Amino acid sequence: MLSRRRFLGTAALQSAAALGLSCISLPSRATGARSFNDAMALPKATLSQLGRVPAIVIGTGYGGAVTALRLAEAGVPVVMLEMGRLWTQPGSDGKVFTKTLSPDGRAMWFKDKTEAPLKTFLGLDVINKKIPRYAGVLDRVNYDEMSVYVGRGVGGGSLVNGAMAVTPARGYFEQMLPSVNASEMYGTYFPRANAQLGVNQVDPAWFETAACYRYARVSRAAANQAGFKTVFVPSVYNAKYMEAEQANAVPRSALGQEVIYGNNAGKLSLDKTYLADAVGTGRVTIYTLHEVRRIEQQSNGDYLLTVRQIDEVGNVLGSFQVSCGKLFLGAGSLGTTELLVRARDTGTLPKLSTQVGQGWGHNGNVMTARANHLWNPTGAVQSTMPAMGINDWANPANPVFAEITPLPTGFENWVSMYLAITRNPERGHFEYDAATDTAKLRWTRAQNTITVNSAKMMFDKINQQQGTVYRTDLFGGGKAFADDFCYHPLGGCVLDVATDNVGRVKGYQGLYVTDSALIPGSIGVNPFVTITALAERNIERVLAQDFA
Ligand code: FDA
Repeated sequence: MLSRRRFLGTAALQSAAALGLSCISLPSRATGARSFNDAMALPKATLSQLGRVPAIVIGTGYGGAVTALRLAEAGVPVVMLEMGRLWTQPGSDGKVFTKTLSPDGRAMWFKDKTEAPLKTFLGLDVINKKIPRYAGVLDRVNYDEMSVYVGRGVGGGSLVNGAMAVTPARGYFEQMLPSVNASEMYGTYFPRANAQLGVNQVDPAWFETAACYRYARVSRAAANQAGFKTVFVPSVYNAKYMEAEQANAVPRSALGQEVIYGNNAGKLSLDKTYLADAVGTGRVTIYTLHEVRRIEQQSNGDYLLTVRQIDEVGNVLGSFQVSCGKLFLGAGSLGTTELLVRARDTGTLPKLSTQVGQGWGHNGNVMTARANHLWNPTGAVQSTMPAMGINDWANPANPVFAEITPLPTGFENWVSMYLAITRNPERGHFEYDAATDTAKLRWTRAQNTITVNSAKMMFDKINQQQGTVYRTDLFGGGKAFADDFCYHPLGGCVLDVATDNVGRVKGYQGLYVTDSALIPGSIGVNPFVTITALAERNIERVLAQDFA
């Protein structure tokens, strides 16, 4: 049952979109006129009218959402600034998110053509489509030798991701984040994150017969026959809703090819969990289409932000300034790192450590695909939500965790696809580029060799056993391994290196990192549960120690 708080927050998120507002909050009357700043309760207050606020959270992804909710529960009024739009209002086609196979501008963040992970099918340029430039939900940030997919909008990556909600192997977590007490994480914060995110799992008995998971069963059999273990993977997609989709009882989303450009139903994205609860407290106001461009510190220790507001087609509506006592960065590994690297190298936060911008990794991501025999079809209707992974992470020589992903073309294609997560110790770093006023990722394609070789070892073995081959017509250039993009950017402002042990940025008081930038490049599984749990841990300590 919905709590009153979630009900109120959801209503505010829905009505802001319906009214076309770029400022989302509960009207003060809805909460019984609480005592926070009147301007914050006014739905139409512009950012510059706020002047100074106690706390600002930049970004509405996992780290930002956790932080805003817990601050608000502790009585702290919070302003959240999000560069993307709110995704709760249907467009003229009656859908919030665009169709996957015939996308419009809602698909991507200011692109002229979609840039889907798959470039071609049978070598033909039939996947990517021309679209109008718009504040769409998926961005592909193209650096010289690596492209990174991220979500844009209220909910960040939760709007576009595959919903796989995986808690990492404890041994690897301890190796990657040795300064964090693992007993506390596995005893308290991982369970808290899983509960609040709404993590569930498909019914194993249903999975065995569901047509939409034939592709996963085919991949499981091939992996098992080659000697690899497979595991069910938890998810924040509602398993019961998916069962109803398979039974044709509800509109199809996971079974309707929806995922990277947003799900119109079924998925518990953050706007339905953490953020609805946060807004429902009456103490959180979210400003959408507001991008933070500059952070400086004032003589009294406050932070002054310069924020650019745009409309949905990219017109700049204005540039505003707002200040705060405490500033939390939750703009994601790329966004948070860019803001801090820019601040250090343009001299607005000159005391930031040289470690800011270092320690970036892509969680060892690489995508690959195999062609099955004609007598082994994978199914015309495939759930876009992976439910199973090949788990060979315990193999000390070559640890790989490969999610079995769909290729939902809507017709039989005999393809088995995978997103492999490998252990790759290579790290990239960010450098400020004055000409473009951006932070550029320094990462070379050669740094991916370990990842490709690692995945190849697993899938060569499967191919050999099955007598099958790689698909080389999907990723461009005849490649069997997509080593030029990733879904899991991690690091750039690493915990206990560029920050202290709870995310306080070294060199500055009242400045915190809350998101994937804290994780040192690799966590061995899909990362959002770890990002959420770590943010839960950190904000609990910050509230106890810095707000007392
Ligand atoms: P996140 O990226 O979620 O949010 C940052 C927010 O800040 C964004 O909304 C952004 O617009 C905003 N922002 C950035 N700069 C800003 C600025 N200057 N001013 C204002 N706002 C700014 N993970 C997983 O565990 N399971 C999975 O199945 C998948 N699948 C997957 C598929 C795809 C297609 C993608 C792109 C990603 C995944 N992921 C995933 C990864 C996962 O989504 C990702 O790790 C998290 O969203 C990262 O959470 P953060 O809190 O770090 O930031």
